[in-house]
Amino acid sequence: QNEIYSEGVHDRVPSVPTDFGELERRAKSAMSQRGWAYINGGAGEGSTMTANRRALDRWAIVPRVLRDVSQRSLSIELFGQQLAAPVLFSPVGAGGLVTRAADVHIGRAAAQLGVPYIFSNQGSAPMEDVAAAMDDVKPGAPRWFQLYWSTDDDLVGSFLQRAEAMGAGAVAVTLDTTMLGWRPQDLNLGSLPFARAEGIAQYTHDPRFAQIVAQRVADAAASGGADSPKPSIGAIKTLFEIARNVPGSVWANLRAKEPRASVQTFLDIYSRPSLNWNDIAGLRDRTKLPIVLKGILHPDDARRAVELGVDGIIVSNHGGRQIDGSIGSVDALVDVVDAVDGRAKVLVDSGIHTGADVFKVLALGADAACIGRAHMYGLALAGVDGARDVVANIIAELDLTLGLSGNTDVTTLTREALKEIR
Ligand code: FNR
Repeated sequence: QNEIYSEGVHDRVPSVPTDFGELERRAKSAMSQRGWAYINGGAGEGSTMTANRRALDRWAIVPRVLRDVSQRSLSIELFGQQLAAPVLFSPVGAGGLVTRAADVHIGRAAAQLGVPYIFSNQGSAPMEDVAAAMDDVKPGAPRWFQLYWSTDDDLVGSFLQRAEAMGAGAVAVTLDTTMLGWRPQDLNLGSLPFARAEGIAQYTHDPRFAQIVAQRVADAAASGGADSPKPSIGAIKTLFEIARNVPGSVWANLRAKEPRASVQTFLDIYSRPSLNWNDIAGLRDRTKLPIVLKGILHPDDARRAVELGVDGIIVSNHGGRQIDGSIGSVDALVDVVDAVDGRAKVLVDSGIHTGADVFKVLALGADAACIGRAHMYGLALAGVDGARDVVANIIAELDLTLGLSGNTDVTTLTREALKEIR
């Protein structure tokens, strides 16, 4: 980790600001108004985002001295993969609002660091392309796939199959977004259709999706077009603006035949509000990949997940983007860790901005932390290098915090390293 520290901070001017506040300020001016609204925005009045930070502030690091911290280790093992640090890139959809094929750039950044990138189901590049870009940097660089459970079970199966084929180390099923939250920043700009349009790449490259659309087209033709679907003109326009740039895709073919059916099919099937525990129970039979549930905040849900045999949980409130006035994710972490009691891996995200934040969640019992918006800000400012350096800086600060607090190994941290400030 010395290498990250010296390269990231000492030997050259970093490509991105080394503190979150300045990173955020500069990213805002580098992004379009729509892009900023979508990436930065939270649900409602933003109180969950505030709660995420408050939850971290409640814990203070209590350093120990004179403990020989010259040799330190940040590496962890997760589902059989050795990782350079206990940090992952959270799945972020619609990255195309920041830059074209954003996911490919983020993939390269993660591969350079040797930490996993969780590909979004609503990514702006197909998972196969992102995987290939990561393999270019380092063959087999760790990657996971994040699933939004579709109303079409065969599409879920197709996504799982593609994820396995592209070398996913785990599948993370996101549970907190069966419907999109109340997001004033986007609603006020009327820009959610644009964000949706940037998140279609996994679908437009999917063989099962093509089948579903073709069936719809056939059904509509058979019924004389009577129940021909009617998406809004805005949605069609934005979706096709994007699709036009995806050469050779299934989408491009279908677009020529029946654009309305293609668009409406995507809108109809991408999320499933009826999702329930039975669906999760059946997942084990459908994939060999380790199963991680993302978006758990209640200890009883964590217990139930463990009883179903899931391999991991990501404690998350989606970066405060879904419910306004929700519990801070680090406030939920402590109870979830106790409920899980070592029977599954526990990861956490939402509001984690610094190495000290990562130190705190590890000491509270998390196995690793995921970083969302921050890496997108780095991408907006300096492309692959920016996304990489934002996370490299967090890792470098984690290393320093570890040593300066009298600790030498991230896997042996305990709550002893912290004091709760009331
Ligand atoms: C997200 N998040 C997310 N999560 C997910 O499971 N699938 C997705 O497609 C997305 N898309 C997405 C887009 C954008 C713009 C943001 C900011 C977030 C949530 C993400 O994975 C993560 O939970 C949060 O971003 C973590 O909080 P911070 O680090 O952004 O505070």
